[in-house]
Parts: sequence; C-alpha cells; structure tokens
Amino acid sequence: MNMTEDTEKILHPETTLPEDVRDYALRPTRLNEFLGQTSMKENLAIFIAAAKERAENLDHLFLTGPPGLGKTTMARIVANEMGVDFTETSAPALEKAKDLVGILTSLKPNAVFFIDEIHRLRPEIEEKLYMAMEDYELDFIIGQGPGARTMRLPLKPFTLAGATTKAGMVSSPLISRFGISCRFSLYESADIEAIIHRSAAILGIRIDDEAAALLSRSSRYTPRVTNRLLRRMRDYAQVQKLTSITLEVVRGGLKRLEIDELGLERLDREILRMIIERYGGGPVGAETLAISVGESVDTLEDFYEPYLIQAGLLQRTPRGRTVTELAYKHLNLEIKRPINNSLFTGL
Ligand SMILES: Nc1ncnc2c1ncn2[C@@H]1O[C@H](COP(=O)(O)OP(=O)(O)OP(=O)(O)O)[C@@H](O)[C@H]1O
Ligand SMILES: [Mg+2]
Repeated sequence: MNMTEDTEKILHPETTLPEDVRDYALRPTRLNEFLGQTSMKENLAIFIAAAKERAENLDHLFLTGPPGLGKTTMARIVANEMGVDFTETSAPALEKAKDLVGILTSLKPNAVFFIDEIHRLRPEIEEKLYMAMEDYELDFIIGQGPGARTMRLPLKPFTLAGATTKAGMVSSPLISRFGISCRFSLYESADIEAIIHRSAAILGIRIDDEAAALLSRSSRYTPRVTNRLLRRMRDYAQVQKLTSITLEVVRGGLKRLEIDELGLERLDREILRMIIERYGGGPVGAETLAISVGESVDTLEDFYEPYLIQAGLLQRTPRGRTVTELAYKHLNLEIKRPINNSLFTGL
C-alpha cells in the first residue's frame, strides 16, 4: 500500500472515503450530541424552540465553513429537532428549473430542504429560489411560444438549508434571504477529544486519555478527520491484539501514516519547506506557491492553509504567504534572515 497516498486521503476532509458513508453511527442526530460550536448550538436551540412554539417553519439557514466540520450533520439535526422532514440535494444536481420545482412542490410542511454546495447554483435556478424563499410561491410557465402562460404556484412553508465551503462565492441577494447564519470554525482541541471519546464509545473501543490527546492534536481540528484517524488506530490496536488504543499505538500509527505530532502530512511540510527554501520564508503569492507544490489554488486555500494558519505556522498577508518562526522550528531549519511577522498579525 502506498502510505503517502493513503494519508492524503485520510487527512482530506473534502474527499469522501467509502468508510465515511458508513459513518452514520458516529453522526450526532440531536443538538445535545453535537459537540463544540457552542454559541451556534445555543442560538439554534432558541430559534428552534421559538419556531416550534409558533408552529412555524424555521427561518432559512446558511451553513458555511471548511469541509468535514458538520454542516450537513447540523442541517439534519435541525430537521430532527423541529420534527420535520429532511430532503437533500446539491446545487450541481439541480440542472433544470423543473428539478427545483419538482422538489419544492413535494415538500411536506415546514420541511428542511438541504442544498449542498449552494455556491454552484445556476443563475436561473437561483432566481426561482429567491421567490420560493421569500413568498413560498413559484412562477411556473405553462405551454410554449406566444400561448405560454405564467402560473403562480403556492408552496408550503419550508426551511432552505444552504451549505457551502465557499461563502465568498455566494451572491449577496441569495445570502440576504437567509435569516440564520451558521459559521463553522475549526474545533477546539478539547471538543475534538470529546468527539474521540464519543466515537470510541459508539465503536465499542477503549482509548487511553494520552492517546486521545495525541490523536486530537493530529486531527486538524476537523471531526471527519478525527473519526478517520480513530478507525485507523482501532485497526492498529486490533492487529496488535490490544484491548484499548494506547499512546504507543497512536504514536506508531501516525508514524506509519506519515503524520507528524502537529497533524501535518507530507504536503503540508512541503509547502512550508518550499516557502522557506525557495522564497526565503515569503511572502509568496498563492498562485506561485500552488504551482510550486503541484496543487490547485483551491486546494491550497481551502484545505492546507486554514490548518497551517490555525497551527501558527503560516500567515496570509496582503503581499502573499509567509511562514512563522514556529515553521522553521518545526522543520528544524535555520532562520537565515529576520522574520517580521508582527507587521501582519492583524490579519
Ligand atoms: N460536532 C460534532 N460532534 C461529533 N461528530 C461530528 C461533529 N461534527 C461532525 N461530526 C462528524 O464528522 C462527520 C463530517 O461531518 P459533515 O459531513 O456534517 O461535515 P460537512 O461540514 O457537511 O462537510 P462537507 O463540507 O464535506 O460537506 C460527520 O459524519 C460526523 O460523524
Ligand atoms: Mg456536507
């Protein structure tokens, strides 16, 4: 098996692995099982309680943030807590206006209609959605040519839940039609540890506290990655005939997967090394950097950078990307010239 390839898939929350599909058991189904993102949960709990009291649909819900943080999970939870139906699609699947009309007209009252990758809606579909979201009505064209007529179709109230990893690519008329906004940020280490213990309990395995702590530091603050790593560690413990996942198992397992103690994989280290060795520590533009490491700018910006920034290894500045002192230390490289990160700490 090619370990490096395997590692990249494990750490990439934006790709779907076959095991993720079997992840249902680990997926929280109620608000109180959803760990972390506390203020978001508190707000949602209030909005949900209020909507239920009025026997109304919940306001439209906009869910944004990096992949694997729980956007889809949260949309399902909202439907469960409201006690309403959940219908799921993604923007690229809505090719024709009639696809949208078909779904909207068959929704049960107050249902949650989830559209993933909402930044990829076709303009004509988006137009139709505006009216549906605002007035719970749709214009429907009957017939063709000069005899064509527009009919207004009433819809049952519903909640549109739109999710995206690219909030910046969603048009402002669409954003303005969402009443509730849930912005997911990378999880705190303590939350990731709690998720590890919860998932381990569901999977029926034991994990030592130090082992969970190390695993949480390597999870990129992302629950999807946490659960994948936990499964791998379970496999390693099992082949060693151990009854629980120990610190040694996690140490050995991460080494096999070429994941270091900061949760960096080979390409993360390569990005930092490239900035240091070829660009004198930065600043270097995102496009140039992406080409240098052979990745797309999207992958660089959406996957690698948020974590490197959160880990304090990289900074985004108006002139490009710069590494921090910690990056030199982590890679064991000598600082050849003074770095002035303080100039950009406001960013
Ligand atoms: N707060 C949480 N507590 C426990 N487990 C969680 C939490 N958030 C997410 N998970 C786990 O992580 C997995 C990934 O979450 P989910 O699929 O909802 O992410 P997403 O934000 O929709 O990702 P994408 O952008 O790729 O669609 C879930 O299946 C669930 O097992
Ligand atoms: Mg999702």
